Amino acid sequence: MSWITARRRHPAAGYAILLLGLLLVGAIYASVTGGGSGASAAPPATAADTAQVNAGRTIFLQDCATCHGFAAQGNAKVAPSLIGVGSAAVDFQVSTGRMPAAELGAENPRKPPRLNARQTRQVAAYIASLGGGPAIPSAAEVSTNGANVGLGQKLFVADCAQCHNFVGAGGALTYGKFAPPLTQSTNSQIFEAMLTGPEAMPVFNNTTITPDQKRDIIAYVTKTRSEANPGGFSLGRIGPVTEGLVAFLGLLLFMVLVALWITAKHGKTEIPHE
Ligand code: HEC
Ligand code: HEC
Repeated sequence: MSWITARRRHPAAGYAILLLGLLLVGAIYASVTGGGSGASAAPPATAADTAQVNAGRTIFLQDCATCHGFAAQGNAKVAPSLIGVGSAAVDFQVSTGRMPAAELGAENPRKPPRLNARQTRQVAAYIASLGGGPAIPSAAEVSTNGANVGLGQKLFVADCAQCHNFVGAGGALTYGKFAPPLTQSTNSQIFEAMLTGPEAMPVFNNTTITPDQKRDIIAYVTKTRSEANPGGFSLGRIGPVTEGLVAFLGLLLFMVLVALWITAKHGKTEIPHE
């Protein structure tokens, strides 16, 4: 303690404490925002896995049946039948937090998912067991290794940009509908959105846009994101919030240091006898 007391009044003490505090804030912030990217890599659900299907049915009865009906048959005026939509539709809707819907008749925008990845696979397996519909794509199917970004851009401009805008930033549609920005979508979610055509979005099946072309589009959409982040080191790529915060903290640090410097100088010239 005496060590600290002796040095507390050292002119550099203020700077040191400030720097420590800022480093701490930076470290906490980095740990909170870290690991925000990456596609889900779980293997596709197999309808044959009865345990998974049974677990999925239990979750379905609890979280989905009130709207979609006890056998997923749908409910006039409330929610559509899920028979034949396939596991891809369930994975898309649940992993983007759209389902389970919060209330009837409301918009279902992207939000933090209510079910975890395992539960999502289970419900998806249950719906797939009812037959039909596209399956959740595998990690290899949504990988952008070797994809053609240039071709992806052409396809995006031709098929997606009229709603999602040129940089995938979202845009207004007719009837007050809104095509969301694609800044948070994972590779699987982009693939699944094309396969299943949620809400006002058309379906782009594997004949309309081949799986290879889908990968090209995914590569373009995700590359657009990293282009908005020029410069040497990544700040987590969660968008302008991080960059803005870092710039703000940097400016704050600069201003505080200048203030400390000015007051320190003043102290010396105005009170020379202290
Ligand atoms: C409050 C009512 C409600 C609840 C609860 C609910 N849904 Fe839905 N769901 C809807 C409505 C309404 C739609 C159609 C509108 C839309 O797509 O936004 C829909 C659409 C869907 C679709 C898209 C179907 C298609 O044709 O692509 C899927 C998949 C889905 N729900 C799965 C689920 C799952 C799984 C759960 C439970 C985890 C669930 N829903 C819970 C109301 C609900
Ligand atoms: C007619 C307008 C329209 C077109 C064309 C369209 N979309 Fe969409 N898209 C939508 C709407 C509306 C939604 C939101 C659906 C919802 O909330 O249920 C959406 C949602 C999405 C999502 C989910 C975003 C998220 O993470 O929440 C992705 C990914 C997506 N679209 C990709 C594409 C791609 C890729 C193409 C081109 C191949 C495309 N869309 C073409 C209207 C469109």
